Amino acid sequence: MNDLIKDIDIITGDEAQAVDYKTTVEENTGKAKKIYIESYGCQMNFSDSEIVASIMKENGYDTTSDFQQADVVFLNTCSIREKAEQTVRNRLNHFNAVKKHKPEMTIGVLGCMAERLKDKLLEEEKIVDVVVGPDAYRDLPNLVNAAEDGQKGVNTFLSREETYADIAPVRLNSNGVTAFISIMRGCDNMCSFCVVPFTRGRERSRDPHSIVAEAQDLFNRGYREVTLLGQNVDSYKWSPEENNKARLNKKEGEVTEVVNFANLLEMVAQVSPLLRVRFSTSHPKDITDEVLYTMKKYENICKYIHLPVQSGNSRVLELMNRTYDREWYLNRVKAIREILGEECGISSDMIAGFCTETEEEHQDTLTMMDLVKYDFSYMFFYSERPGTLAAKKYEDDIPLEVKKRRLAEIIEKQHQLSFERNKLDVGKEQLILIEGTSKKSQQELKGRNSANKVVIVSAEGLKLGDYVKVKVTDCSPATLFGEVLEINPALA
Ligand code: SAH
Ligand code: SF4
Ligand code: F3S
Repeated sequence: MNDLIKDIDIITGDEAQAVDYKTTVEENTGKAKKIYIESYGCQMNFSDSEIVASIMKENGYDTTSDFQQADVVFLNTCSIREKAEQTVRNRLNHFNAVKKHKPEMTIGVLGCMAERLKDKLLEEEKIVDVVVGPDAYRDLPNLVNAAEDGQKGVNTFLSREETYADIAPVRLNSNGVTAFISIMRGCDNMCSFCVVPFTRGRERSRDPHSIVAEAQDLFNRGYREVTLLGQNVDSYKWSPEENNKARLNKKEGEVTEVVNFANLLEMVAQVSPLLRVRFSTSHPKDITDEVLYTMKKYENICKYIHLPVQSGNSRVLELMNRTYDREWYLNRVKAIREILGEECGISSDMIAGFCTETEEEHQDTLTMMDLVKYDFSYMFFYSERPGTLAAKKYEDDIPLEVKKRRLAEIIEKQHQLSFERNKLDVGKEQLILIEGTSKKSQQELKGRNSANKVVIVSAEGLKLGDYVKVKVTDCSPATLFGEVLEINPALA
């Protein structure tokens, strides 16, 4: 997903050992104990860590950014590719070495790897104290207490209802401007390569009322952008009957109609014209024209769609069980261009070297990229995951060198396309939202335009959270550079 997956083969496509993870920040409110959380994988996992921090905070724990200070260390893990799991195993070994000198420290594995491996991590490998899957975080304080008394524990129960709707996430690593809101959990698709349906369980949508309330609260606290998160946001669906059978009395302001994703987008967009709305991930089989028209109707819904194609070849797409073909995908892109115009950003995920993929079929992915002209992509080579449909049905028969070479070709193509697309922005006036300092210089700030591209501007007179009208003056394949024209123009 998008913003969603952060791991190194996006960049290098190889087995480099670098990691991309987030840790908790220091928050000292005088509580007796401290947790340290290291989070891997997609944005939804990072979002879950904020729920975990909230649950633990209620139960007497502050957060720390230094695991040496922590009473409890959590690794919130990802199983999407083999390398993601290997990274976590290396970290676990490291934490265990530390624990030898500090036996009172509790080590917990959370997230997708916990769900996939369950008690294996406890029984066979004996390297953790608690193992807790994505739907069981309310049980964490109990399990940690028991572990502190020497009782190791596992809870990997997957729920059909849990959405943590009532839990106010503790914003970790926050810039105070942009935040993520989970709108659904799980996934009901069965893409043959993918482990997510097994680690995250059945798809369920969260009460729209609680989503809007969370967006409103963030806005009141100064946030200016929310990203609505789900594995397949277009299948968001909430109805009072289905989702809320137990409730007898309707509360004031409660939603009574069926709410689909387009409706939800509109509800969040109406919080304020000053609150930008983004979302991820869209599934090509489910994205509707109604969503595209809603995006068009609201200036504050960003014109950017992450629409992972995975492959440009219809036979491979069928083996992947993506349930669309090349033609369907191209038609969806046509609708985006017709309704939202050429400037709408489109990005993708691509998998190189899926089972039985021929050279010609790989070429179809490259020509697909040329046709769509993706602004950027997250690119991977296929990594077989135990228990998935592909692992059961197909042979992982493309040699690693071939996978890597195909991936390198895809990355090279994307590099050219990103540069081409960025050049089209040079000379244009755009609105950006300032969200941080530039990696390269303290004198420069970075913001993003509606199409989700980073624009670097001089920091003079600006602060985080400002909307700035800029003229794009230059670009690299990854970044735009802008000149400030106006600070906080009227948007309402
Ligand atoms: N729900 C999102 C994807 C979530 S996983 C969607 O349907 O688009 C994020 C990305 O990881 C996928 O889009 C896919 O490109 C990649 N991925 C998933 N499983 C993989 C595997 N077994 N090997 C390589 N890449 C994989
Ligand atoms: Fe995985 Fe497919 Fe679900 Fe995305 S839509 S999470 S790729 S099964
Ligand atoms: Fe996300 Fe990785 Fe799980 S991508 S849903 S943390 S397998």
